[in-house]
Amino acid sequence: GNRTFTMIKPDAVGNGHAGKILDQILEAGFRVVALKYTQLTDADAKAFYAVHKERPFYGELVEYMSSGPIYAAILEKDNAVADFRTLIGATNPAEAAEGTIRQRFAESIAANAIHGSDSDENAAIEGNFFFSERERH
Ligand code: GTP
Ligand code: MG
Repeated sequence: GNRTFTMIKPDAVGNGHAGKILDQILEAGFRVVALKYTQLTDADAKAFYAVHKERPFYGELVEYMSSGPIYAAILEKDNAVADFRTLIGATNPAEAAEGTIRQRFAESIAANAIHGSDSDENAAIEGNFFFSERERH
């Protein structure tokens, strides 16, 4: 697969890191297919993260992800899903490799700066959640 989906999360936007994060993504060779600045409603966040609804942190995750604006994007590159997850680093920034986006910009396991799809199938589902065909280039 050659596409993935990302969100620059509310903590990173609020801290003024979105430009640096987008720059690191482009420098790593990803092309922007679609991009928007938006904010998830409570209902949006519940639906987007429905796969996590049995996990103990689901309520916190939904509240956090709807707490402020985000950037959402579809990105294109060979091996996009795996290469993007390498670029962002481990979920817990304390365990994220040096130079990864989460090591550089994340505050905690909850406020961890950025999302990256975990499979080609989920990348397509997540991209479709945010973007119409006319918004892709
Ligand atoms: P995403 O790219 O955001 O999906 O992260 P991930 O695939 O590395 O992690 P996962 O899908 O397992 O978890 C989704 C998100 O839930 C994480 O990115 C965190 O924002 C949040 N999360 C994961 N574990 C915890 C936790 O223990 N506590 C809290 N509060 N949030 C968590
Ligand atoms: Mg995930």
